Amino acid sequence: MSVVDLVLSAEVARVPLFDPTPPAIQAGRRALYDTHATSGLGHVACASCHVDARMDRLAWDLGDPSGAMAPAGHLNCSLVGALIPCPDFHPMKGPMTTQTLQDIVGHEPLHWRGDRDGLEAFNPAFVGLQGADAPLDPAEMQAFEDFLASLHHPPNPFRNLDNSLPTSLALPGHFSPGRFGPAGQPLPDGDAVRGLALYREGFLDGSTPGLQVQCVTCHTLPTGLGTDHRFRLNLLAPAASGYDPEPLPPGPLGERHLMLVSVDGSTNVSMKVPQLANLYEKTGFDLTQTENRAGFGFLHDGSVDSLARFVAEPVFDLDSDQDVADLVAFMLAFSGGDLPAGTPVGPFEPPGPPGRHTHAGVGAQLTLGAGAEPPRLAQMRALAEAGAVDLVVHGVVLGEPRGWVLDRVQGLFLSDRDAEAPLTAAALRALATPATPFTWLLVPEGLGVRLGIDRDEDGFGDRTELDQGSDPLRQSSVPGAP
Ligand code: HEC
Ligand code: HEC
Repeated sequence: MSVVDLVLSAEVARVPLFDPTPPAIQAGRRALYDTHATSGLGHVACASCHVDARMDRLAWDLGDPSGAMAPAGHLNCSLVGALIPCPDFHPMKGPMTTQTLQDIVGHEPLHWRGDRDGLEAFNPAFVGLQGADAPLDPAEMQAFEDFLASLHHPPNPFRNLDNSLPTSLALPGHFSPGRFGPAGQPLPDGDAVRGLALYREGFLDGSTPGLQVQCVTCHTLPTGLGTDHRFRLNLLAPAASGYDPEPLPPGPLGERHLMLVSVDGSTNVSMKVPQLANLYEKTGFDLTQTENRAGFGFLHDGSVDSLARFVAEPVFDLDSDQDVADLVAFMLAFSGGDLPAGTPVGPFEPPGPPGRHTHAGVGAQLTLGAGAEPPRLAQMRALAEAGAVDLVVHGVVLGEPRGWVLDRVQGLFLSDRDAEAPLTAAALRALATPATPFTWLLVPEGLGVRLGIDRDEDGFGDRTELDQGSDPLRQSSVPGAP
């Protein structure tokens, strides 16, 4: 932290503070955020558009009028691609919305079109787009990739606390698209479980009998991305329905080959099947309404205003506004994992790549003074005991800030003072008072010890270190050392 003299307008001192972020994040995040290090005039960085490594809700026309056609033939262009290979990429790609950088490593090729083999292919953008003097060197590029590989999709706000899909989700802000009745009416509550069933088994895509596929045929679970298998039509294939799956080996830099399709009717013909994990962040544009809080919606160019309109497009075989509502509910609740994986033999549900998702319970928090255990805390504890998340507790006892974490093997809470006996949940609750309440918090599985009792993970509890005069914030400082 810098100390700034307001008269001199100058930094006069730096105070070191504990930075709890892991080394991979500390080393690599500079490439995303540091405008001085990564741009010519010191005023932009990748995060200028990829805000917080996410997106800016804008479309940018980043084509290159002096560029050349780029080949698409080496890519996994499947499905229709088996019959019509993906056409090459034109350098004038037209407006495209900024994509999130969450959960992209291992999900190559990148960009809406899949025209970049891997993250390394973005290195020229530091110079070409941001005017930096030089691209990252290989070590900086690797650090950047390791940092990006740590980014998970956050807890899904539309899922239930136990990460299950909502069966009766109110849909304020979503309106009937006009296909099955008047446009702009409130949608009924959506059942995401039924939405998932339609997505996997409804044969919604295509109106010609026998030529329909499932949403999940392209958008595999749990990510929505295409399969890493080449997905060919082969009428002689031993598996049912002429489906011939062929797993693809990773490329020289570890990059994968997720499926592209050649979609007639899109302004770009060769398109990667996009992930569907951040759809809920793209809502707010609806042309059935007179007030909007966004000007871009769905698809690569943001041209489809709402999710409801998207799933009600004539290309999809839906029957009612209830179908629309159920699919919208599922699209909103999509991220979070815990969705059925595909199979290597099913013709319409190919295996998909894994994703980096966070359990919906993460971040759930209760602050309690005294009294009986509320049902929500019992539910939080059950989730942590089952291993889906970790549970940490913080509070002040006898003037000392203290921490605990649930040890699910014993079903007891370990404290930040190593010599103390573990406590039952009831005993721990009894330590809180209305004046000094305790906060119970669900955190990602695996982070409980660090966030609850041992910040520097040196094996000595935070309070033990304070008692014995070592620094609970530094791994190199432990009790008993000179
Ligand atoms: C001017 C805004 C802007 C800036 C600055 C910017 N990007 Fe992007 N980024 C975009 C847009 C727009 C897309 C989608 C373009 C496409 O699909 O062709 C994108 C897509 C990406 C993707 C593909 C993500 C995926 O899921 O396939 C990556 C990776 C990426 N950008 C990395 C970077 C890096 C690294 C930098 C800094 C050197 C950067 N971007 C700077 C706007 C920007
Ligand atoms: C043939 C493969 C295929 C099938 C089947 C398919 N999609 Fe897609 N989907 C794509 C491609 C490719 C895109 C990107 C198109 C573009 O941006 O121009 C896309 C885009 C989307 C988007 C927009 C993503 C965003 O971030 O804006 C949503 C939502 C979506 N699909 C949902 C569905 C649903 C729901 C179904 C079933 C009713 C379905 N898709 C069926 C290939 C497919």
